[in-house]
Amino acid sequence: MGFKIAVAGATGNVGREMLNILSERGFPADEVVALASSRSIGTEVSYGDKTLKVSNLETYDFSDTDICLMSAGGAVSQKYSPKIGQQGCVVIDNSSAWRYDADVPLIVPEVNPDAITLFSKKNIIANPNCSTAQLVVALKPLHDRAKIKRVVVSTYQSVSGAGKDGMDELFNQTRAVFVADPIESKKFTKRIAFNVIPHIDVFMEDGYTKEEWKVLAETKKMLDPKIKVTCTAVRVPVFIGHSESVNIEFENEITADEAREILREAPGCLVVDKHENGGYVTPYECAGEDATYISRIREDATVENGLNMWVVSDNLRKGAALNAIQIAELLVNRGLVKPRKQAA
Ligand code: A2P
Repeated sequence: MGFKIAVAGATGNVGREMLNILSERGFPADEVVALASSRSIGTEVSYGDKTLKVSNLETYDFSDTDICLMSAGGAVSQKYSPKIGQQGCVVIDNSSAWRYDADVPLIVPEVNPDAITLFSKKNIIANPNCSTAQLVVALKPLHDRAKIKRVVVSTYQSVSGAGKDGMDELFNQTRAVFVADPIESKKFTKRIAFNVIPHIDVFMEDGYTKEEWKVLAETKKMLDPKIKVTCTAVRVPVFIGHSESVNIEFENEITADEAREILREAPGCLVVDKHENGGYVTPYECAGEDATYISRIREDATVENGLNMWVVSDNLRKGAALNAIQIAELLVNRGLVKPRKQAA
């Protein structure tokens, strides 16, 4: 007997990818339900070779649904996730609404799978921020080997991280440049076509942005609270795929060759690091892929036990939909969720 799964936010970038990945990975679902706002009732979305009609999240009854994959933004999650959890359905939420709640586990299955047992307090599990997910997949095996003291990360984040509207804005502005139409900016604070913007999410009192704060808070929660992390988060005119320049300082000695070997064996990681033209991965090539790609691994001679590396992954997959479905698989494989509805 299989599970009944709901995807809330099914018309969005991440929701559509969730439906693709559920089908691709053969998730043991007897029934998959697509949910969004009342605006989208009846809209059709694809689930493998099937077409699903979207229903209204607001009026949906979760009492026989086992897992809800939620990607409809923070405010929607704040409002609905507790109610869904109370109906006995486990919510795996892609927004930042629950990530810092001590009673909600924040999980990357390659990094901290055992923290999942905490989910039963609220029946909510949080999926990390897209930049943090790929970062911790690459840091975890190195931390296990040489103990990370400090990380400096600069992100190059694609517009799909800002939702479908972000992708439309890059497309429309790029087109407008070529046909000499006026450039309109709605989603981003400045023009994104042929530009980069050092601002993602809101500003905080200390001058950092919320996106930058998320990377440090979430790395500490999942990997090790003692690691010092500082971040600069930048939006770039790329449709899909986040890149990161990562500088790491370790407690113990580790060479670039050792790091390369460790990462080659590490779950979720793929090392592409040839010292030649094109011997590294760019975001364009990682779109549609599951792995976290690591390139340009080299020693940083300006500090003791320092390394630099380049980390790239598909933000809609490992940074969002894939990680959420890996969490659902973890729940199923560990027997933490059982199908509630008897198959018809
Ligand atoms: P809808 O298309 O009906 O607005 P993205 O991040 O790519 O923009 O996608 C956001 C997703 O969240 C969409 O599926 C959107 O549905 C959904 N969503 C937004 N607001 C609500 C709401 N109030 N109730 C349910 N779903 C919502």
